[in-house]
Amino acid sequence: MIDLRSDTVTRPSQAMRAAMLQAPVGDDVYGDDPSVNALQVKVAEMMGHEAALLVPSGTQSNLIALLTHCGRGDEYLVGQNYHTYLYESGGAASLGSIVPQPISVEADGSLSLANIAAMIKPKDVHFARSRLLSLENTHLGKVLTQDYLTQAVQFAHSRQLKAHLDGARVFNAAVAQNLAVAEITRQFDTVSICCSKGLGAPIGSMLCGSKDFIDEARHWRKMVGGGMRQAGIIAAAIDFALENNVQRLAQDHENALLLQHELATISEIKVEAANTNMLYIAFASAELAVQVGEYLKSREILISYAQRTRLVTHLDVHTEDIHVFVAALKAFFVGQT
Ligand SMILES: Cc1ncc(COP(=O)(O)O)c(C=O)c1O
Repeated sequence: MIDLRSDTVTRPSQAMRAAMLQAPVGDDVYGDDPSVNALQVKVAEMMGHEAALLVPSGTQSNLIALLTHCGRGDEYLVGQNYHTYLYESGGAASLGSIVPQPISVEADGSLSLANIAAMIKPKDVHFARSRLLSLENTHLGKVLTQDYLTQAVQFAHSRQLKAHLDGARVFNAAVAQNLAVAEITRQFDTVSICCSKGLGAPIGSMLCGSKDFIDEARHWRKMVGGGMRQAGIIAAAIDFALENNVQRLAQDHENALLLQHELATISEIKVEAANTNMLYIAFASAELAVQVGEYLKSREILISYAQRTRLVTHLDVHTEDIHVFVAALKAFFVGQT
């Protein structure tokens, strides 16, 4: 199968599985798992933070960050189509009584500082208390510039807001800009990274922040059911991913560009510019998208069946797979005429 639906579909390699098999383990809820403890120290340092916490998923990591930063009736400001607001089942509001203030997202994936400023509530009994700005990098594959991030975090702090980064794909941003990841992440109060996307681990995210913040986050992790026991096997997979799968993200970015150029030769689809490991294409109708999807599936290629659909490159998509996919798509349209 060539699976272009998401970078979450990557499977652990034999070498990663071997590392998992050998991991020393203990009960992580007691703080006894040596592999988890070592990974948390390593990731905190890598991100430029004091401490880190292993959690099962990116959704839970962001939720724990919100629950730790905000109390009942507090507000967080977030992009209208950022994951933390739109795709996390309303967790902050329903589980934390935290009020979201969505803000429209600019074409480059950022939130304008003027829009943020306009939405911060005055201190007045009528309003929720604005506490947190939550950004996302990359957003739909787009890299937020360093200048923007610095300005946004400084602005948040100047207005007594904390700043959280949903850095599910922050390694893509770092590799694309040839930066150490800490240069992006250390300015935020907290950052969540995902290890089960482009990095290729089967499960796991890491929440990073100050030692006090992570101590408190550990309490919330237990409450939402994220306390895991012999989690060292997961930590070993993540450690393997960090050692072996970061720099290779550049290959995924190259493959996304190749995909953009190759698809541009097919007149029946509209192709948007690739950003890091993602690009969007559009079919003439939703029905056509389903027909294409079914046709490709019969050829062992998976894409999402949407009229405007996202294609994602990752470590299980090789350069030759790009050519196989493009040839199959061309064959579909030839068959149509
Ligand atoms: C930007 C972003 N943040 C957070 C998440 C949540 O990660 P998970 O699927 O591990 O809950 C995702 C998942 O796709 C994502 O794309």
